[in-house]
Order: sequence, then structure tokens, then C-alpha cells
Amino acid sequence: MLSAIVYTSDTGYTKQYAKLLAKTTGLPAYDLGSLVPPKLKGGRIIYMGPMMAGAIRGYKKAADAYRVRAVCAVGMRAPDDSVVNEVRQRHHIGEEREVFYLQGGLDIAKLKGFKKFIMRFVARQAVAQLSKLAQRTPGQEAMLRLASEGGSCVCDENLAEVAAWFKGLGKTHA
Ligand SMILES: Cc1cc2nc3c(=O)[nH]c(=O)nc-3n(C[C@H](O)[C@H](O)[C@H](O)COP(=O)(O)O)c2cc1C
Repeated sequence: MLSAIVYTSDTGYTKQYAKLLAKTTGLPAYDLGSLVPPKLKGGRIIYMGPMMAGAIRGYKKAADAYRVRAVCAVGMRAPDDSVVNEVRQRHHIGEEREVFYLQGGLDIAKLKGFKKFIMRFVARQAVAQLSKLAQRTPGQEAMLRLASEGGSCVCDENLAEVAAWFKGLGKTHA
């Protein structure tokens, strides 16, 4: 039985996804940093965290404290199979756990210090690379928009795969 959605969010996009998923699943959503009730320790959860330099923020802390049944990585990159494979490798997540990737958002104004500095650089590079492509996938278009002007891709539709997986757990909520 899954007991909660636990998330980490720096600029709010993962939190928005967590709230949307909470509505769809009926599970409560808690911030890993401060809000998880102690009684949930060791319980089965869905963990959602933002991508940072190829890793999911907070994943290790979540995996140490809870039985993470599924992970949703939220990043600005265009969704494709390679992102999920990279996340699995980076965090040694086997096939027994689900991994989903969701395109989040970018708000450079909300970032501070080194993170702001690095994202300005990364965004400029992304715009240069993506602008060169003769054709772009919808995910690449969205990434180009995020990198050039900021914004959000957070929407219920992007959670469809996660919601379907959750529904598929059926009565057992394994
Ligand atoms: C320092 C830094 C590094 C990032 N690295 C990645 C990355 O490796 N892959 C990616 O897809 N997005 C990356 N992002 C983009 C964030 O994952 C994205 O903006 C996400 O939606 C932030 O979620 P949040 O608002 O919940 O913090 C990075 C952002 C920052 C600030």
C-alpha cells in the first residue's frame, strides 16, 4: 500500500506536479525537507525530485528513509528513453522500481548564486544547440522555450503515464 507522495522542489515545479498527482491518486503529498509526518518513516512512497546535474535532488535521502516504489524526475530536458535510463544508472535503480521523467519548468529569477550562474550558461548553450536543429520534437520545442524565456511545462497530461501506473496497481497498491 502506497502511503504518500514525497517531493523536493527548489523553484516550485516539482511541488506543482506533486500536488497534481496527489489530486489524481488521492495520496497526500509532503515536502521531504520538512513536512513528512514521522509515522510515515519506512513506508512506501512515490518520490518526486528535480534534476540537477544529471541526478535527482533528494533521492538518496528519500531512499534512506522510505521504501521508494516509484520515482518521478523533473527536469528541463526533452523527455526520451535515455533520460530514464541515465537516471536509473546514476542512482542504481533496478527494474523493480518505476522511473518516470516529467518536463518541469525554469525560472532563473528564482535561482540564487552558483545555481543561477550555471543555469544562465546551460540555458544559453541549450538555446544555441536546439536552434540549430532543422526539426525539433515537441519536447525539444518546450526545452527551447524554457531555456530562452523560462516558463512551465507542468500539466496533468504529463502525469498520464504515472497515473496509469498507479491505477494499474489496482486494489493491492503494491
Ligand atoms: C543547477 C541546476 C542544474 C540542473 N540540471 C538539470 C539536469 O541535469 N537535467 C535537467 O533536465 N534539468 C536540470 N535542471 C533544471 C531543473 O531540473 C528544472 O528547472 C526543474 O523543473 C526544477 O524543479 P523545481 O522547480 O521543483 O526545483 C537544472 C537546474 C539547475 C538550477
